[in-house]
Amino acid sequence: MRIFGIRIGKKKKDTKPAPAAAPVPAAKPAAKPAAKPAPNPVITAKISYLNPSNKLEGKKIIITGGGRGLGYSMAKRFVEEGASVLIAGRNAEMLAEKAAELGCLYLPIDLQDVSSFPEFIQKAEEMLGGVTCLVNNAGVSMHEPHIRAVTPEGFDAQINTNLRGSYFLTQAFIKLMEGKKRRDGHILFISSERGLFVDDIPYGLTKAAMNSLVQGLAVRMLPSGIRVNAIAPGITASDMTGFSADGNLFCGYNASKRVFLPEEVSETACFLLSDCSRCITGQIVACDEGRAINPHWRRP
Ligand SMILES: NC(=O)c1ccc[n+]([C@@H]2O[C@H](COP(=O)([O-])OP(=O)(O)OC[C@H]3O[C@@H](n4cnc5c(N)ncnc54)[C@H](OP(=O)(O)O)[C@@H]3O)[C@@H](O)[C@H]2O)c1
Repeated sequence: MRIFGIRIGKKKKDTKPAPAAAPVPAAKPAAKPAAKPAPNPVITAKISYLNPSNKLEGKKIIITGGGRGLGYSMAKRFVEEGASVLIAGRNAEMLAEKAAELGCLYLPIDLQDVSSFPEFIQKAEEMLGGVTCLVNNAGVSMHEPHIRAVTPEGFDAQINTNLRGSYFLTQAFIKLMEGKKRRDGHILFISSERGLFVDDIPYGLTKAAMNSLVQGLAVRMLPSGIRVNAIAPGITASDMTGFSADGNLFCGYNASKRVFLPEEVSETACFLLSDCSRCITGQIVACDEGRAINPHWRRP
């Protein structure tokens, strides 16, 4: 097992936008101005990898949004574990560069263009020589603070990318798998802890609907030999949240006072896509240090 630490600097004045997973509540004004604000503690993140073992040998994985953020980190991990990987997204130039870096394939897709999905899946099938797994990772968040700030355009963009796009790409994948009578398939959704809470903004609603889909689809797919699971990350370093993995990770919202790292989500994804988790389907695995659990003693 390899373990490494990341040293985290003292928090500077917080100028970051509200994070995607869930907003950090605004601090109450101090009763009287403190002479000197107490510095935030220096926090070390220790993350561990399972031993590399070709856990994904023979898996042929499409991952949407694989050019950056959580998707890129997962693609990297899957390649390391012996999978054939195809990354997809809108930015063809970035995909080409990242695919060369990782030693994988790439194919552009716009998740808002549902009519292109059957052709996309067919082409990915040819490029990979038989797809076995789909990772629905691509997503957007407008970070609206509440319903009053939501626009119809923003609502549509989030629903169409996060939910409608993933839904119909999944449908195209299932049609291919069932048409080929290919079993041992896997559909992994990257949901959010936000979908485990009630919500009034589109991002959270798309993830809550996705969680319902994961469970319903898992049962529907049992006879076809296709497993369906989800990961629900908490606030994780990426463009979406504005945290850089090698920058200041301080985040008072999480129990460890830091944001999570994309590698921590990737490790979970790797286990779920591997045959080590054959008995697991229909599960939403929260990578959030238990933040979304609602025990009665946490009530104010
Ligand atoms: N970071 C977090 O704290 C966090 C927490 C919970 C859940 N998540 C979920 O994790 C997933 C990845 O997020 P991230 O943090 O890695 O965000 P990110 O860095 O902003 O990356 C988003 C990815 O989605 C792709 N994408 C966006 N719109 C697309 C479209 N219309 N068609 C195809 N691809 C599209 C982007 O690629 P192109 O720009 O090239 O299209 C990009 O690769 C999302 O589903 C997000 O909701 C993230």
